[in-house]
Amino acid sequence: MTHKVSLSLLKLADYRNYAAVTLTLDPRHVVLTGQNGAGKTNLMEAVSFLSPGRGLRRAVLADIARVGAPGGFSIFAELEGMEGGVEIGTGTEGGDDGQIRRLRINATQAKSVDELTDHLRVLWLTPSMDGLFTGPSSDRRRFLDRLVLSLDPAHGRRASDFERAMRSRNKLIGEGRFDPSWLTGLERQMASLGVAMALARQEMLGLLGGLIAQGHGDPAFPSATLSLDGFLDGALHQPAIDLEDIYVGMLQDGRYRDAAAGRTLDGPHRADLMVRHREKDMDAGRCSTGEQKALLVGLILAHARLVANMTGHAPILLLDEIAAHLDAGRRAALFDRIDAIGGQTFMTGTDRSMFEALGERAQFITVTDGHLSV
Ligand SMILES: Nc1ncnc2c1ncn2[C@@H]1O[C@H](COP(=O)(O)OP(=O)(O)O)[C@@H](O)[C@H]1O
Ligand SMILES: [Mg+2]
Repeated sequence: MTHKVSLSLLKLADYRNYAAVTLTLDPRHVVLTGQNGAGKTNLMEAVSFLSPGRGLRRAVLADIARVGAPGGFSIFAELEGMEGGVEIGTGTEGGDDGQIRRLRINATQAKSVDELTDHLRVLWLTPSMDGLFTGPSSDRRRFLDRLVLSLDPAHGRRASDFERAMRSRNKLIGEGRFDPSWLTGLERQMASLGVAMALARQEMLGLLGGLIAQGHGDPAFPSATLSLDGFLDGALHQPAIDLEDIYVGMLQDGRYRDAAAGRTLDGPHRADLMVRHREKDMDAGRCSTGEQKALLVGLILAHARLVANMTGHAPILLLDEIAAHLDAGRRAALFDRIDAIGGQTFMTGTDRSMFEALGERAQFITVTDGHLSV
C-alpha cells in the first residue's frame, strides 16, 4: 500500500515573477495552465525546492528573488508528508548576497537540507531534459545521480566528498608534489567514495530495470534498457573492497598521466548512463525526438513507481509542458499511469483542453502574469 504525499498549501513571497501568492490545494493532481511567461514553471520550481539541491532549473539562488526585491525570497509549504503533517519554509534573506538557503521544518532550523527527504521526495521532468540522450554525458550523470539521490539521500554527500578529495589530488599532482603518503591517503578516500557511488548507481539501475521489465509491452511508453559505462566496466559485481583496490591501483598508475592531463581521468565522474530503446533495440540517442520523449516519460514514471515501492510513499511528480509532445491516447495513458503511482502530480501546459481526460482527478489553476486563479 502506497501512501500519498500531498501539498495542501504553497505560499510564495518575492519568488521570481510572484510578489506574493497563496495556493490552497486538495490532494488531487494539479494542472497549471497559462500563456508563455505566466509563471507556470516558476511555480513548479518552487515545489522542487522542497527537495535538496538547486531545484529543477539548477538555479543560482541569487537569481530567484524577484527582481527589485532586496530581501530575498521565501517558499512556505504545508503538506501531508511521509511522517505526517509538516510545515516547510525555505528561501534566502537579504544581506548575504542571497546565496545561502535557509530551511525550517516545523518552525525549527534544519541542520541539513537532506532532512527534507524524511518528508517528501520530488521528481521532475522538464523540457530542458529533452536532449538528455544526445547531450553531454555530464547531463546524464547528473540525471542518474538524481535518480539515486531520491532513493538514497546519502548519495549527494558521497559525491561532494569525492569531488573534494579529487580536487585535492589534482592540486597535489598538478604542483608536482608526488608525496606518496599524502597521495595514497587521498586516493584511498577517493576509492571508498567512488566505489560506493558506482555501486549505488548500479543498484538503483538494477531495481529500475526490474520494474521497467515488469511493465514491458506498455504501448504508450516504450521501455528503456539502462546500463553504466566508463568506470569499472564489467567489474561491478565484485565485492566493494576488491573494487576499491582496483581503483586505487588505477589512480596510482595514472598519477603522471593525470598530472599531464590536469585532471583525474578515471573515476565515477567519468561514468555515463547508457539508455537503449528496448523494443527497437536501438540507442536512445538515435531514436526520433518523439520516441526519446516517450522513453524519458516512461523512465520517470518507472522511477516514481520505484520510489513509491521503496519508501512506501508516492513522490510528488512535476511534469512541465508534458502534454505538448503527446497525442491524446498517450496523454490519457499518462494520466492513468500517474494515478496508478498514487502521488500528487503537477502538470503544466498552455491549453486546459489538453488535460480534459483527467476530469475530476485534478484541480485546475490558471496562471496569469504572476497571479493564480481557480
Ligand atoms: N527573479 C525574477 N524576478 C522577476 N521575474 C522573473 C525572475 N525570474 C524569472 N522571471 C520571469 O518569470 C516569468 C515566468 O517564467 P516561467 O515560469 O518560466 O513561465 P511559464 O509560464 O512559461 O512556465 C518570465 O517572464 C521571467 O522573465
Ligand atoms: Mg514553462
